[in-house]
Amino acid sequence: MDISQFFRIRLSTIRPDKKTAFDIYIHIDNKAVLFRRAGDVLFTDKIETLHSRDTGNSFFIKMEDKETYRSWVKEEINSDSINNKQKANILRESSLAIMEDLFENPDVNEALNESKPIITDFLHFMDQAPESVGYLLSLSGHDFYTYNHSLDVSIYSLGLGKVLGFDSKQLENLGLGCLFHDIGKRNVALEILCKKGPLDEAEWEQMKQHPQYGLVILNQNENIADEIKAACFEHHESWAGNGYPQQIAGNEIHPFARIVAICDTYDAMTTQRSYNTPLKPTEALTMMRDKLAGRYDPEMLKAMYSVLFKIQAA
Ligand SMILES: [Fe+2]
Ligand SMILES: [Fe+2]
Repeated sequence: MDISQFFRIRLSTIRPDKKTAFDIYIHIDNKAVLFRRAGDVLFTDKIETLHSRDTGNSFFIKMEDKETYRSWVKEEINSDSINNKQKANILRESSLAIMEDLFENPDVNEALNESKPIITDFLHFMDQAPESVGYLLSLSGHDFYTYNHSLDVSIYSLGLGKVLGFDSKQLENLGLGCLFHDIGKRNVALEILCKKGPLDEAEWEQMKQHPQYGLVILNQNENIADEIKAACFEHHESWAGNGYPQQIAGNEIHPFARIVAICDTYDAMTTQRSYNTPLKPTEALTMMRDKLAGRYDPEMLKAMYSVLFKIQAA
């Protein structure tokens, strides 16, 4: 099977009782096998068994059907026959598939263009149903790959940006900045990124280069707004001035980067990784407020508590 001809989707974006407008394939012995034909309906029990086995990388559609898939997802988000919690799930899962594709795309222009609809779809959904922020956020925190992490940081940041009163253009750029905040990790050796346990000094030095690497990557595109670049380049700066790479402090750090810093740590603390036990949302925020005091903008950290209430309400 030539993988470049196929686009990975998550089966959890497909409802059993709804006909799809595209063929779905599975990957067996290096061959693409037709699993469900366009126009077919699957029975609930079969699809439930398959859902439980779906690790996020088993189902495919043909690359030429990618746009059809996207409009199909959009139609689901606007349909009246499913509730907002189901819609939030479909939106997040379909975005994860797109994110995974983006992180493998060496063309940053293309990746940026492709990622815009993700953010606008999230914003549109958040406007449509005010409680949706909570649903989207409550789905986060299950995975630890860079693209999952980046998507979750975007969702948290959009929630925080809304509480802070940003307008829709700012929110769009904030979301994009978050999707790309760790893009520089592409240039960090995989053994370092995937190492279980603490990094040694040399490895840590390489890891700490990722904001600069990210800036170099984003600078390849002349049209990227400075605030998107700032979200990436300054997200490891600390409010107290002892972060990296520039050691700038307080309001010198771009507000977007201050937001990413909070949501980045929050996501890391509340997500299950192979070597840690995740903290509960309030435990994570309390730890950031008390033990890591000085690293984050205190006003923004306070606002993060209201985002948390939305997660708990969902
Ligand atoms: Fe980072
Ligand atoms: Fe990050």
